[in-house]
Parts: sequence; C-alpha cells; structure tokens
Amino acid sequence: MNLIDEMLEDHATVRRLFTEITVAPVESRENLFDSLREELIRHEVAEEEIVRPLTEQSVPGGEHIASERIAEESEAEKMLKEMERSQVGTPAWEQLFETLRLSVLEHAEREEKMEFPRLQAHLTASELAEKGKTFESAKKMAPTHPHPGTLNTPGANKTLGPAAALMDRARDAAARKSA
Ligand SMILES: [Fe+2]
Ligand SMILES: [Fe+2]
Repeated sequence: MNLIDEMLEDHATVRRLFTEITVAPVESRENLFDSLREELIRHEVAEEEIVRPLTEQSVPGGEHIASERIAEESEAEKMLKEMERSQVGTPAWEQLFETLRLSVLEHAEREEKMEFPRLQAHLTASELAEKGKTFESAKKMAPTHPHPGTLNTPGANKTLGPAAALMDRARDAAARKSA
C-alpha cells in the first residue's frame, strides 16, 4: 500500500474503534480502549517520524501545516496520558473520552483535507509506495503508550522512541499475564 492508503486505512480503524467504544457495554470498553490507544499512538508516532518531515520538505507552506498537525497530536497524547490515570467508565473518563474523540476525528479530517492531497500532488507514485513501507515499519517499532515529551520534537522519536517502545512491550506483556 502506498503511504496515503496506509494512513487512510489507519484512520478508518481509529474511527471504527471510537464508534465501537461509544456503544460498547462498560465491561468491554477497557479492551477496546487498549486497542484504540495502541493504534493511535503507533499511527501518530509513525506520522511524526515519516510524514511530517515529508510535508515540511515537499509541500509549499508545509512547515506550517506540519507544525499545526504536530500540535494537535501533542494535545491528543496528553489526553491519552490523563486517561491512563483514570478508571475506564467513570464520569471523568467519559468526559475525557468524548473530548479525545472529537479532537482526534477533527485532526484526522484536517490531515485528509489539508495534508494528504498536497503530499499526493508533490510526491511521485514510487516515492509514495516507498514511504508506505517505511511508515509500516515505523508503526511496528513505535511505542504503544503515550510518552509526552518524546513525540513532537524533531529527532526525539528516533532516539527516545525505541527505548519507550521496549518498555511498552514489557508493560503490555505483564498486563496480558495478569489479565
Ligand atoms: Fe495525525
Ligand atoms: Fe493520521
């Protein structure tokens, strides 16, 4: 899949998970939310590593588009961190979830309207295909939990990301054992 299709497929997954969580009974929400958190973090980390630099370099006015998207991602990451500290299904959690849902859906729409078409216009088909593969492997290597401060800083994902990703794997494995 090319880069744009990879990202659109992720957006579809995230939209589906948001809807599923909204209608799910409280007891199944925690697992669904774990899937959403993981998908969202992997996706945003890969975008910040692979896509934002491309937008900055290849799209006219791209620095502005990229920095606005990164600011939105940083907000979502802070919300996810806060949600990890509160109990799924409590009123405080519900309120955070609704804020996160609206903000992430709006963010995805902005990317689809303002960023992806410009990338498509300024990159060749073979560049988009190659970057699609890089995006896919960046997602595989990415952390699965929010780490405010490691995203959103140029170069930081590359240096801090792998350590955070390893810690997250250990944490996820321990959580699965105790479940
Ligand atoms: Fe994003
Ligand atoms: Fe995205």
